[in-house]
Amino acid sequence: MPLVSGKQLLIEARKGKYAVGAFNANNLEMIQGIIGAAEEERAPVILQASQGAIKYAGLEYITEIVKVAGRLARIPVVLHLDHGTDFSQAVLCLRSGFTSLMFDGSLLPYEENVRITKAIVEIAQPCGVSVEGEIGRIGGVEEGEASEASPVLTDPREAQSFVEDTGIDSVAVAVGTIHKMKVKKARLNLDLLQEIADRVKIPLVLHGSSGVPDEALREAVKRGISKVNIATELSIAFSTELRKTLVKLPEEVDTRSLLKPAREALKQVVRRKIRVLGSSGKG
Ligand code: G3H
Ligand code: ZN
Repeated sequence: MPLVSGKQLLIEARKGKYAVGAFNANNLEMIQGIIGAAEEERAPVILQASQGAIKYAGLEYITEIVKVAGRLARIPVVLHLDHGTDFSQAVLCLRSGFTSLMFDGSLLPYEENVRITKAIVEIAQPCGVSVEGEIGRIGGVEEGEASEASPVLTDPREAQSFVEDTGIDSVAVAVGTIHKMKVKKARLNLDLLQEIADRVKIPLVLHGSSGVPDEALREAVKRGISKVNIATELSIAFSTELRKTLVKLPEEVDTRSLLKPAREALKQVVRRKIRVLGSSGKG
């Protein structure tokens, strides 16, 4: 089927108290592993392109590969721009066929964040493309960024006015996660998340989820997190398996033989994560 907008998927997720996995992919094998896992779990899935992925693979390659993946898949697939940098990039992605856009104005003053996010909402929503904004700051180094941003927890009142002022479809909140953690040691502030969820009725998005233990993820989903972003954990699974294969088969030169086990390892990690998020069978 053609790629679908993120909006309805996430509204249903929040209503049903489960979350849709939003997985970052940099190449064909990662896209195939993610889609394969979602199909086996019969789960809706969001494939997201980070700034780093766009630089590495090229916007056109990512878009077209994901479009093919979506067309062949028997589950709903969303193509999402992760941490969009500016209005022009949103326009480009909209024209290329993305079905969901994030604008990350977390380093900007509130008014400026509202102004750009709202402008993107005004062009995207009439095209049936959903928009995710960010209020507060998740922190850590994001894909494709050179410097580390210090985290700022989301203020529930500010989150409420940000949603009203911009008209976004979903909102990324900072409740204790940090991007690119290699160990699951993030401490979520679940009380803060509950306060935000009481005030903000649109789907909430958790970034930096590689660092979150499974039990905390389940709790976060119960409290209104409807989209869970995972990148680093997938890269770890893929590269660890690739390294093992290179050691095991030192004479092997066929790239397919080297990459296949890595694709399979990533697929198993995505399947497990989908089950934690409770979205199995929802696609
Ligand atoms: O936007 C992408 C995510 O927030 C990924 O974060 O690499 O820490 O899983 P992660
Ligand atoms: Zn993120």
